[in-house]
Amino acid sequence: MKDAFGREINYLRLSVTELCNLRCRYCMPEEGVCKLRHEDLLTEEEMLMAVRAAAGLGITKVRVTGGEPLTKPNILSICRGVAQTPGIRETALTTNALRLPELAKPLRDAGVSRVNISLDTLNAEKYAYMTRRGRLEDALRGIDAALNAGFAQVKINAVLIGGFNDDEVPALAALTKQWPVDVRFIELMPMPGNQSFGPESYIPVNSVLDALPEAAPETEDGVARLYRLPGALGRIGLISPISQHFCGSCNRIRLTADGKLKPCLHSAEEYGIKGLDEAGMAGQMRRAILAKPPCHGTLDAENRSRAARGMSQIGG
Ligand code: 5AD
Ligand code: SF4
Repeated sequence: MKDAFGREINYLRLSVTELCNLRCRYCMPEEGVCKLRHEDLLTEEEMLMAVRAAAGLGITKVRVTGGEPLTKPNILSICRGVAQTPGIRETALTTNALRLPELAKPLRDAGVSRVNISLDTLNAEKYAYMTRRGRLEDALRGIDAALNAGFAQVKINAVLIGGFNDDEVPALAALTKQWPVDVRFIELMPMPGNQSFGPESYIPVNSVLDALPEAAPETEDGVARLYRLPGALGRIGLISPISQHFCGSCNRIRLTADGKLKPCLHSAEEYGIKGLDEAGMAGQMRRAILAKPPCHGTLDAENRSRAARGMSQIGG
């Protein structure tokens, strides 16, 4: 359905858990998030009911996120249920790849067509530092598994952080020559819980182009502006939530693991659906879509997101 500003909302981001096996510094505090009570989380039945309600309102694409969705024990059956919901044409998943060696093929068989993999650095020490506990080789093994599982598309998402990985732009971009993947650089967002990043960490994603003089522009794809290196198998994407926001073409709504619909990532406004029947959920969804703001205000190190939760508690 259309929101109050004429934007067609057809994309649901479904967070299935707040928990994660990593602790990326821009996303989560060291100690993790306060574990929600089991009874406050949506059950699998409720998630699938919400997806049916969403499909009834014109949602055609669902992205399963978290936290880390692959830490959820029933992730395959959730994905299968989403993919089989009438009206859902595309089921995608965002992951840190750590569990893909065992789950990539089963996810593909469950109907997941695309995966986005988070990878911010190709340096093992920096990977361990930024994720506070991960091993780069495990992530790379997961990417390999994804490439061999037959997904329609595999994308790699790198959060661009000044002083951390801006020197790795050429190396990360070169992955598009090695593998049939899109590599997308995303501007760091000032979310609750990542205050330790100073102004120098926030750099416009356009700076990627300075490091890639041979990149040639291609057509846009959703929120990403696309480029290609000569002879590359995949494309380079620039996603600029800060420097050039894409609110005007926002097509999404979010559902958190504890059953709160969020009309906008950067607003504290939430609409609960826990415990409702499908018609009740559809009503809340309609309200949430109509409550989508035209835009989030300025975001930078001083003007932080007004989301009341960290990224892992919303759905990255
Ligand atoms: N800024 C930008 N992207 C973020 N993500 C999480 N936190 C942030 C943030 N503060 C995104 C990253 C990561 C995904 C899980 O969520 O793209 O890969
Ligand atoms: Fe986990 Fe992804 Fe957040 Fe990193 S960014 S802590 S992998 S949810």
